[in-house]
Amino acid sequence: MDTRVKAWTVDDARLVLAEHGQEHVLRFWESLNAAERNSLLTDVKGIDFRLVDRLIRDWVSSEPPQERFNRIEPIPLIPKAVEDRPDAVAARDAGEEALRQGWVGLFLVAGGQGTRLGFDGPKGAYPIGPFSKKSFFAFHAEKIRNLQRRYSCELPWYIMVSDANEAATLAFFQANAHFGLNPANIVFLKQRMMPCIDNEGRFMLEERGRLAMNPNGHGGCLPAMVEEGVVADARQRGIRMLSYFQVDNWTVKVADPYFIGYHLLRNADMSSKNHWKDDVREAVGVHCRCDGEYRVVEYSELDIYPQLLKLDAHGHMIHGAGNPAIHILSVDFVEWVFNHFDSFPWHRAHKRIPYIDERGERVNPSNPNAYKFETFVFDALRFIRHEPVALEIDRAGEYTPIKEFEGDNSVVTAWRRMSDYWAEWLEAAGGHVPRDDQGRPAIRIEISPEFALTKQEFLSKTVGRTYPTDGNLHIDADGNAVPTA
Ligand code: UTP
Repeated sequence: MDTRVKAWTVDDARLVLAEHGQEHVLRFWESLNAAERNSLLTDVKGIDFRLVDRLIRDWVSSEPPQERFNRIEPIPLIPKAVEDRPDAVAARDAGEEALRQGWVGLFLVAGGQGTRLGFDGPKGAYPIGPFSKKSFFAFHAEKIRNLQRRYSCELPWYIMVSDANEAATLAFFQANAHFGLNPANIVFLKQRMMPCIDNEGRFMLEERGRLAMNPNGHGGCLPAMVEEGVVADARQRGIRMLSYFQVDNWTVKVADPYFIGYHLLRNADMSSKNHWKDDVREAVGVHCRCDGEYRVVEYSELDIYPQLLKLDAHGHMIHGAGNPAIHILSVDFVEWVFNHFDSFPWHRAHKRIPYIDERGERVNPSNPNAYKFETFVFDALRFIRHEPVALEIDRAGEYTPIKEFEGDNSVVTAWRRMSDYWAEWLEAAGGHVPRDDQGRPAIRIEISPEFALTKQEFLSKTVGRTYPTDGNLHIDADGNAVPTA
């Protein structure tokens, strides 16, 4: 970064901006108040001009050549961890021991803008519980409380936020008394922002005194972990690995002992869970090996690599390993990636970005007018030094992302999927769940993860207990059925 930043005045900013052809963002300077001036200077100070110039040159002023692979292979998946397989038992034992020893931390990425959901507030504050109306953050906290009790351990929770939602997220945790967790074990860190770039390669103003910017993608967690002190904090606490998850995956199993165990026993740098896709076109990235390198190919790129759409002679998918963005990252590996971050890949998205025009008027474009640049955490797979772990999971109970109000990744679909999943627990415990003519539960169900994280735990805690299933059912953290109205 420019070394002049500390003593910056507007003249210094003007000089640097002019060097990079971006001085137009100061055009309203004379009419800005002190706060607006300060905000604009802060935005400009934070920019890595060397990086941004490179991205504009390679991605806006020219079209980068499309990557081509000679050979795309499916990744070797570890089959779903089931109790009666010795490798799974060994993994679970190792994972449980790591939890008891305090080697595991949790890493949540919650810095995104949540544009598609359009909720007014940080996405983690969205009231996802069908009856409890508990937020994503509250659900994740309940899982943590369950694990801490079960393994008599403390699980530090690192939460990445961004300028887009930092203040609101911190206020939400305060207002909810940190969901009953020890605040000393909740560490917030902030990712960096990137300027949005218009079709001519120019910065844009979101307000007269503020640049249009976006968080640098979930891959931004890798430098942020080092720059914001997470790696140092984790080392000081004796943490060796981080269980990575995304805020909008409502029912993700955090710090899953099986997953931790495989990661540990195989001495992996980075591990991934994978669910078998419903069909080749499912809107999820594909985990595969491209010319020997581990990759996730985004679903938007499937047509570029038609091999990924092929079926075998029996009509089965060859490349079915969907990437639900559930990982384990070794702390050492995070530092390794940080030291190589100059060669970390960037992704470009062409978007409709509102801006302030030369006359100072706000413009809401109806067509994509600008580029957002982001990094993706799965690209860290290119930097691994040891074979990664790719563990197959059932989608049910592990991957319930909420991206939008309607469709496959919506709230209603997630509620339905989880009612299907929890209905099986109730039936396994001897309960009766009314079903419709398609065999799906005719009632809606919510079970607190603080009470039970797995079917096994539910069964062990509900011996001799029955729940009323003649209507919707909500089981709280103490295992009691509470009114759903
Ligand atoms: P998505 O890519 O789904 O983005 O993020 P989003 O912000 O939630 O929603 P859209 O695309 O704007 O509609 C997946 C996860 O990565 C985090 C999000 O908070 C979410 O947990 N994320 C995304 C970040 O932490 N930072 C980012 O820059 C982008």
